[in-house]
Amino acid sequence: MSIQLAIFVSGQGSNMEAILRSIHAGEIDGSVEVVVSNDPEARALLVAKEYGVKTVAVSSAGISRAEHEQRVLRALEPFNFDYIVLAGYMRILSPAFLQRFRDPRGFYRIINIHPSLLPAFPGKTGYDDAFAYGVKVSGVTVHLVDEKVDHGPILAQEAFPRLPNDTLETFKARGLAVEHQLYPSVLKQISVQGIRIENPLKESV
Ligand code: GRF
Repeated sequence: MSIQLAIFVSGQGSNMEAILRSIHAGEIDGSVEVVVSNDPEARALLVAKEYGVKTVAVSSAGISRAEHEQRVLRALEPFNFDYIVLAGYMRILSPAFLQRFRDPRGFYRIINIHPSLLPAFPGKTGYDDAFAYGVKVSGVTVHLVDEKVDHGPILAQEAFPRLPNDTLETFKARGLAVEHQLYPSVLKQISVQGIRIENPLKESV
């Protein structure tokens, strides 16, 4: 099965690029139909254009969450896609937005990558918080999005060590390299067998 994706970004877009590279290499049977950014200046938009992908910038500056989401939904109307892939998208999606992407099983067709082994260290600064805590092992989580922040059925996790001489920068770089492997590999798996959830976290979805 081929999967069609809409990727949401806010920043440098290195995960988006890893996914695009994997599609171009023929590892993932799929396509990126559109890249959406809430920041018109995001480097990710330039990278997406280099890959020939359609981009849409819907600035979130100075408008309410509801208004921004309405504009994003309008911008998405011309595109067909199976999943929204959050790749460094620094916005929380409202329950009303999630409902628009509900699948027949009650899950949302929205996937996120988070830079920690959830449920540890949710929030915007996963690497910083794990490092500051002094963890010996950290990791990366790919999960389906639900109504809570950095929460929802886990699709994959991969751990990496904190080494004795690590600085926050080397620790983050090791994690990001793991992200760049894990996100494409999960999307590849989904393109082959769909989404399989062992523990549906029924109370929260
Ligand atoms: C990644 O660490 C991701 O896990 C987090 O935000 C960062 C985005 O990096 N959600 P990039 O824009 O993909 O380079």
